[in-house]
Amino acid sequence: MDRYNNPDLVLPSSESISGKVGWKSPSNIALVKYWGKYGNQLPLNPSISFTLSQAYTQSMIEYSLKDQPSEKPELDFYFEGKLNPKFSKRVKIYLDSLLEIFPFLKQLKLTINTDNSFPHSSGIASSASSMSALALCLCSMEKQLFGTLDDKDEFMQKASFVARLGSGSASRSIYPKLALWGESPDFPEASNLYAIPTKAVLHDKFRRFRDDILIVSREAKSISSSDGHMIMSRHRFKEPRISQAKKRLHFLLKALKEGNYQRFGEIVEKEALTLHGMMMTATPAYLLMEPNTLKIIQEIQNFRNRTGLPVFFSLDAGPNVHMLYPKSVEEKVKVFVDDRLVKLCKNGEYIKDYLGSGPMELDFN
Ligand code: PMV
Repeated sequence: MDRYNNPDLVLPSSESISGKVGWKSPSNIALVKYWGKYGNQLPLNPSISFTLSQAYTQSMIEYSLKDQPSEKPELDFYFEGKLNPKFSKRVKIYLDSLLEIFPFLKQLKLTINTDNSFPHSSGIASSASSMSALALCLCSMEKQLFGTLDDKDEFMQKASFVARLGSGSASRSIYPKLALWGESPDFPEASNLYAIPTKAVLHDKFRRFRDDILIVSREAKSISSSDGHMIMSRHRFKEPRISQAKKRLHFLLKALKEGNYQRFGEIVEKEALTLHGMMMTATPAYLLMEPNTLKIIQEIQNFRNRTGLPVFFSLDAGPNVHMLYPKSVEEKVKVFVDDRLVKLCKNGEYIKDYLGSGPMELDFN
């Protein structure tokens, strides 16, 4: 973490200081999955994801200088308008872990307000959007208070680094369309410390991809992603998994560049099943898919076989299904969703999402 440690970022205690920052930041769906970590939030293998648009977190931080300095930041955390002790605890631990990067946090009283665009506990991975929104806000505070991070690339790289420390997948939400996190021979500039933007490799055929997120369950997962990552460090298939992910990343990049739907779908679907396969073959073994997860997957495969349309599935670490397809087949897919999939979703609920243009700073003027 030394890279961004900066003991100079300390505020003069004599001045009256206050301000407000805010960001809206999207979720993402990994195509090659990050699964397993080592050290301080470093990935066992490189991953790549589509950045989404409609599933996002909006966070605002209001800050002012504390009357009395202390060793920890002071925090009131509101989620959807209400003080939320559970999330507050996680954010406090996160902020405390960042004190060498942002030493000025100790001097401030913070009020954080956070909202998600998607229903609370819909099972959508909210850590990517929430942690990236928070990391962006912290970088904006640094910029406002010290006039640093003026260069946009520098700002985004630091935000991705800081987001990674909160949730690995959050490092990728910083960049539009397509982002890659972790060292890879295909990109000499790629790093385990932060994600890099990779939308330039996307063939036109992928630029307007859709992602219907089909909600199968809203229950909290029986095993969290953090525990899942930990279990991977002693998984008997750890080494083969790492080399498999690297190879798949290479071939997926090729498919994304060439606009090859079939190759894309083969790799993305295998990645989703491998992720869950790793869970089912772990010690302890566990299962996050539900009966309707499998029914939806089979419906998607049958629909593709019947129609020849490029419609594919992916899964996060949970039971909900992401259905990926190009905008050009949107109307036909809508009919399919209404006819066959809505009834398999919890309360008929699904989120229509698509590749997005990345986080957006909120303007308070
Ligand atoms: O960022 P985390 O620690 O919540 O882990 C996310 C892991 C997956 O969503 C399953 C895969 C990924 O790369 O996003």
